[in-house]
Parts: sequence; structure tokens; C-alpha cells
Amino acid sequence: MCGIVGYIGERDCSEVLLNALSKLEYRGYDSAGIAVFEDGEIHVEKAKGELKNLKEIVDANKPDGHVGIGHTRWATHGEPSDINSHPHGNKRVSIVHNGIIENYKDIKKFLIEKGYSFDSETDTETVAKLLDYYYEGDPIDAIIKTLKDVRGAYALGIIFKDFPDRIFAARKDSPLIIGVGDEENFIASDVPAILQYTKNYYLLEQGEIATIKEDRVEFVDMHKAPVKKEVQVSDLDMDAAEKGGYEHFMLKEIHEQPDAVKTTIAPRIIDGMPDISECGLTLEDLKGYRKLFIVACGTAMHAGVVGKYVIEKLARVEVTVDIASEFRYRDPIITPEDLVIVISQSGETADTKAALKLAQEKGAKVLGIVNVKGSSIARDSDMVIYTHAGPEISVASTKAFSVQMSVMYLLAFELAYAKGEITEEECKRLTAELAKVPDVIEKTMECEHDCQRVASKLIKAQSLMYIGRGLDYALSMEGSLKLKEISYIHSESYAAGELKHGTISLIEDGVPVISVATQSALLEKTVSNIVEVKSRGAFTVTVAKEGEEFNSGLNDELIEVPALEDVLMPMVTVIPLQLIAYYTTVLKGFNVDKPRNLAKSVTVE
Ligand code: M6R
Repeated sequence: MCGIVGYIGERDCSEVLLNALSKLEYRGYDSAGIAVFEDGEIHVEKAKGELKNLKEIVDANKPDGHVGIGHTRWATHGEPSDINSHPHGNKRVSIVHNGIIENYKDIKKFLIEKGYSFDSETDTETVAKLLDYYYEGDPIDAIIKTLKDVRGAYALGIIFKDFPDRIFAARKDSPLIIGVGDEENFIASDVPAILQYTKNYYLLEQGEIATIKEDRVEFVDMHKAPVKKEVQVSDLDMDAAEKGGYEHFMLKEIHEQPDAVKTTIAPRIIDGMPDISECGLTLEDLKGYRKLFIVACGTAMHAGVVGKYVIEKLARVEVTVDIASEFRYRDPIITPEDLVIVISQSGETADTKAALKLAQEKGAKVLGIVNVKGSSIARDSDMVIYTHAGPEISVASTKAFSVQMSVMYLLAFELAYAKGEITEEECKRLTAELAKVPDVIEKTMECEHDCQRVASKLIKAQSLMYIGRGLDYALSMEGSLKLKEISYIHSESYAAGELKHGTISLIEDGVPVISVATQSALLEKTVSNIVEVKSRGAFTVTVAKEGEEFNSGLNDELIEVPALEDVLMPMVTVIPLQLIAYYTTVLKGFNVDKPRNLAKSVTVE
């Protein structure tokens, strides 16, 4: 995690760095810092906590300079504190780092023997001091020597006191772009950081080192040989990364779902049929796979679970869903006849990246379903389908989930047709139903007031339970994750039928149980489970299809969502689950968009 930025040009550097960092806070907000050249010296300011703390310090004592680097941190080595904040270094060299240096202890030991001392507990400080150790007048030589000694992942922004007219950058396994302006240039972990200044950028590749001056950018490889690169132009809209009148990004992103889903599915429906051939998968290929593996983390993994239920039901192809951090260490039985699907919003999740690599080593082709263009997972996958959610800023994933599910449906329908499990007519009918979903999601937003009321009844809870069966169970998992990650109320999701095998003992007077009961075929069974918890004192909240009849007194709260056919219900069911999590957190007064201990992009194992 962590976000890094850098600026060189005529503008007020501190201001540019703080602006750019504010767009990267989703990558971590344990602390922030900047290093700016002022009168030929490196001036450093740092502060624990969110960027606003650093901003107060900088406003009071602004370094007057035009070249500098900045950082927003998600702590790995060393607690969140002023001293562990980046930039790290000394009077000669200062660095900001995103990633993890695996052999930092060995480097630290070596440097202590050479007479160096350390102020922080971070792995990053060892890189800064190693650069200083190797520096004999040529920064690129020092960088190459340092990187040869370092094991791990890094994106680095570096300044040397002797070269106040340039910034250096290098990367391996952590993302970094170089923004290209008119007589000004930038570095950043992600494009939104620089969008306010320029849409043009270079993608720094593995093992490349950039020298960034005001009027030009030069690249070399690890042998100091020059590298030529093409400028890319971002198609991101700057407004998309703003709150646009909403109080929080999460609420804005929940409301963006109709558009996000439409933009994701509309170009992939051709003559009424689903068509994902843009990624290179033909109907023949699809037919040929023995088995599918879906690998992802967190919310993206839950979209995978929805995918599994739908693909297995419609296409009758076996699907295994794995949490990426488990997949990579369980020695999965994958063959070249299998297709591995990795799902990731950011495209930078370390465990998902490692799973992708493992699958390729085992000879399988990997299909990436990714939101961020040009991200590592998008580039490393053999085939890629982009979801078109636009930038998702809030740490809690909402619209990314909906677009990931949308792609799962397109894939399931196409695969089912390719396998001959459904007719062309049925495939067209299902696809037409999917095409209606954006409007139905819009209508589902009408439950917002009900969700606010339910939230007001949950805020005192110590712990709660989400239950469901089949696709409703997949949605229970997502609802539970959403609530706990931002409201800090413990919650658990359980397969409704499994409760009686132990977990039901947790139910006592007033414990909220949120039942997801949208699957008509399973409704009777789920209702029995609601009866079981109700009779043990649970406060029952049920999310169900509009018009379903329940015995009076069964549901303390009923949230109705528009009816679609069972298989598509997750697309609307998720809305109240997201809104309940959102409003509960607002009422508790917590930071909705930046929950504690988390970051948007999880680039560490
Ligand atoms: O960027 P990715 O989709 O790979 O991220 C995976 C998870 O870290 C992510 O979905 C996480 O679970 C969300 N913050 C949950 O809201």
C-alpha cells in the first residue's frame, strides 16, 4: 500500500504534493510526509494520522520550493508515528517508498557495521541509508547498486541534495507513473493523483529507473542502458474522483452503480447475445475448459462466489472459488486445461497477483477481471476484461462489486450457451434481463430510507449475524464484510441452514440477524431459519423480493427490493446491504471512506 508522489516545475511544490497525496489517501492514511528542496537543502515535514495533520504543519511552515517528493502511509514495519513516517533518509538523500523490503534486517545490520544509525523501525530507512552508502557522485550508479542488494517490492521516489533539479524514480512490483506536463513533471502511484495537472504519463516498468527534470524525463534499465517509452493518455475524468455533492465517496459510489453496470455490460451485448470476445476468448475456447478457478480477495472474492453459483447452475461447469492468500499456498491442482479467473478492482492486490503468477507457472491461462486500466494484474493476465466502474475511492468496495458480478453473468451466459446448456433463445432472454438491471438498481435505491431506519436500530449492537442460502449466502458474506469493515461492529455471515450446527447458540434477546431471503426456490427453508432465530429473541431484519408474504411478527424490519429472476437477484440485493453498512457507520460517527487499519489497495501479502 502507501501512495507516493513527486513534483518538479514552477508551481508551489508543497501545494502540488499535498493535492496529489489527497487523491492517494485511499492507499493508506496512517501518516503523511513531504521532502522539498528549499535553498538547496532538503526540508522534511511529517505527521502521524491523516493528511490533514500534515497540511496544518505545512500551512504553518511551508517549504518554499519547486522540487519535492511526498508520501501517504499504510504502516507495515513500525507503528503509525511521526518518526516512522516517510520521507526517510538524511541531509544527502531522501526517499518515499511503497512496498516491502524483505531483506531489510540484513541491510540494516550491514549498515550499522559501517557506522550508520537508524531513527525509525521502517524497512524503508534501510534503502535510504544504503543509497547514501553507495552514493559517490552519480545517483544512477547508487540506485542501481542499491536495487541489486534489495529484495522485495518497491516504488521509490528519490531526491539527492547534490541534484536539486531532478527527482529519481524506480519500481519493482509496486506501481508508479511519471506524469508529463508542460515544463513540469510528476511521479505518482496512481493516475488520479496527477489528473488535475496532466492526463499524459509514462508507465514505469519493472527494473526501470527514471530521471525526472523540469523539461524532460529519461529512462535507463539496470545496466544503465537508455530505454525509450511512449506517453500514455489517461481517459479518466477528474470529476469522477471528486465527491460531487455527496457527503462521502461511499454514498456517491453506491449511487453510481446503475451507470457503472450499464457501462460495463452495454458494449458486451451484441445482437442480444453476451459477447466477451474482446479479451480473446472464443466460444470454442470457452467450451474447452475442464474447470474454472476464480481467485480474488475480500469483496472481489464474493463476486467470484456469485459467479460460481451462476456458472455452475447455468453452464454446468465446475468452479472453485479461492481466497488468493490461501490459493497460493495450498498447492492447487491446476492443469493447462483449466481457466483461472482473477478478479480485482485495483489490479494491484499482492495476493491476487501472486495467485495469477502461480496459475501461469502451472500452465493455465489467466483471465483478469480488473477495474484499473494498465494495472499490474491487467498487464500480467493472458486475457483481460475491464470493468467500467470508474475510480472507486472509498475503501469499502461497492460499485466495483456490482460490475464484477455483471461480468460474471456475461461469462456465465456465454459459457452456458457455448456448452449447449441453454438455447440461443434462453441466452438472449437472460441477457435482456441483465440489460434491464441498471434501471432496476436505480429503483432499488428507493429503499434508502428503510436502510437508514434499520441502521438506527443496529448502532447499539455488539455483534450481529447475516444469514442466507445459495446466492443469498454469497450476499450475506458481502453484507457482513461491508458492515464490519466500516462500522466496527462485529458481524458474521453464515449459511442459514448451518446455524443450528453451533452458531445459533450466539443468538439471544436483541441480537440482530439480517436474513437475505431473495431466492424464491429456497425461501421456505430460509424462513424456517428466520423462525429459529426469532424464537430465540433475535431482532430480525429481512431483505426480500417485493411482494413476498411473511407471517406477521416474523420480521422486525422488512426491506423489499424489486423482483428479478432468482439468478439475478444479487444485483439488487446488495444495495440495501451497502446502505445499511453506510448509514450505521454515519450514525456511529466513524470515518466512512477511510476505516481504521485499512487501505484501498492491498499491495502487501
Ligand atoms: O483491489 P481488489 O479488488 O483486488 O481488492 C480486494 C479486497 O482488498 C477488497 O475487495 C476489500 O475486501 C474491500 N475493501 C472490501 O470493501
